Amino acid sequence: MSLLSASLLGIDFANPLLNASGVWCRDKAELDALNASAAGSFITKSCTLVPRAGNPEPRYYATPLGSINSMGLPNEGYPYYLDYARHHDYRAKPLFMSVAGLSLADNLAMLAAIRAADLPAIVELNLSCPNVPGKPQIAYDFAAMTEMLEAVSLEYARPFGVKMPPYFDIAHFDEAAAILNRFPHVTFVTCINSIGNALIIDPETESVVIKPKEGFGGIGGDYVLPTALANVNAFYRRCPGKQIIGCGGVSTGEHVFMHLLAGASLVQVGSALYEEGPAIFARLNAELSALLERKGYASIESVRGKLRTL
Ligand code: DHB
Repeated sequence: MSLLSASLLGIDFANPLLNASGVWCRDKAELDALNASAAGSFITKSCTLVPRAGNPEPRYYATPLGSINSMGLPNEGYPYYLDYARHHDYRAKPLFMSVAGLSLADNLAMLAAIRAADLPAIVELNLSCPNVPGKPQIAYDFAAMTEMLEAVSLEYARPFGVKMPPYFDIAHFDEAAAILNRFPHVTFVTCINSIGNALIIDPETESVVIKPKEGFGGIGGDYVLPTALANVNAFYRRCPGKQIIGCGGVSTGEHVFMHLLAGASLVQVGSALYEEGPAIFARLNAELSALLERKGYASIESVRGKLRTL
C-alpha cells in the first residue's frame, strides 16, 4: 500500500494511471512499452472482429491545445489482442481489453471468445467510437445502447465497463446513468471518449488538418478537460454502485488530481501520451505524489469524489 495505490473491481493497482484506449496500444511493441512504463495498468486498442487498416492519413493532428483524430478503428483484429492478453503477466500489472464491434453481433462474438478464454483481463466495451463513417455512436442512441447492454450482459455475465462519449445536457446524464444502473454487470464507467466530430482549421493553408470525413474528428487534450470532469462527476453522482475511470484532458498531475476529486478511481491519458510517449507516466506519478504530499493527503482513496460545491 503506497500513496498512489488504486483499486478497481477489487483489483489492486500500483497507481491510477493508464493509457486511453487507442493511444500507444495497437501492437505488441507499443503494449510492451506500456507494460514496462510507470503506468499502473494499460488497455489495448479497441478491436473489431477482423483486422482493419482504418481511415486514410493524415488522421491524427496535434495543436498546442490538444488533438483531433479520425483513425477509423485501425486494429489487428480481436484474436491478436486476446493472444496478447493470454500471454500477459497479470502479477506485473492489470490489463484491460477494449472491444468495439461494428455491430451487436460482432460484440457478442468477440465477448464470447474473451469469456471462453477465462482471463483476468478486464473488458471495456466501447459504446462511443465517433469515427467510422456511417456508424453512429451507440451511446448517443439510448434504445441501441439498452439493446446492446441487454445482449452483452447475457453473453458476458461477468463484471465489465463501458466507454462513454461526453454528454452535454443534464437530461442526457440522467437517462444514460439510469440505463447503466439497470445493468449490474456494468461495474465501471469510463468518461469520456473524445468530443466527436469537431473541426480544426489551419488558417494559413485555409484547410482542414486531417483527411477523413472532410476534416471532422474527435478532439482531446486541453479542449476537453472541463467536459471530461463534468461527465466523470455526473456519472459518479448518479451511479453509486459503479466505479468511474476518468479520461480527458490529462497532461499534468494536477489534472489527474481533478479527475480524482470529480470521482474517478483510475485516470486514462490520451493526447498527452501520444505527444510525450510512455515516459509521461513517471512524470504524472511524480507530480501527483508531490501534490498529494503538499496537500496532506495520505492516499488517492481519500481524494476520490471529495469535490466541494459552493
Ligand atoms: C477510434 C476512435 C475512438 O474515439 C474510439 O473510441 C474508437 C476508435 C478510431 O478512430 O480508431
